[in-house]
Amino acid sequence: MTTRVAACALMLVIASCGSSVEDAPGEGAALFESRVLGGQAGCATCHSLTPDRVLVGPSLAGVGERAGNRVPGLSAEAYLLTSIVEPDAYVVEGFDSGRMPSNWGDVLSDDEIAALVDYLEGQ
Ligand code: HEC
Repeated sequence: MTTRVAACALMLVIASCGSSVEDAPGEGAALFESRVLGGQAGCATCHSLTPDRVLVGPSLAGVGERAGNRVPGLSAEAYLLTSIVEPDAYVVEGFDSGRMPSNWGDVLSDDEIAALVDYLEGQ
């Protein structure tokens, strides 16, 4: 009996160790909400998730639905990824280019960026 309990506990530990960044629920949300991310002001400093609430950048409420229609031929996922790693590639109407840091691809890991894209796709 004790052995079985121990074996189960061990299996649980292994199972939780095995989960990747993408699987961790809330990973993207936590990154997005971080005040400081990659040594600079985080996403939520400039972007709200409240409709039409403009901080420095556009509100990202509903961005998951808009993203696929922003640039002809670009999927929501591709648009969001490009908007994060190369913000000046497509500048949102009514906003200035050069305001959003363009070095996220250097300061965040691929997994972190993927988690952010996932999170925003769900908005
Ligand atoms: C210093 C302010 C600032 C920070 C920090 C910032 N952004 Fe931005 N972001 C902007 C501005 C301004 C725009 C609009 C101009 C443009 O398109 O580049 C924008 C545009 C975007 C867009 C395009 C939105 C749309 O409606 O098409 C996405 C997506 C985005 N940012 C995601 C992020 C994410 C994710 C982070 C954190 C990793 C982040 N931003 C950090 C200022 C910022």
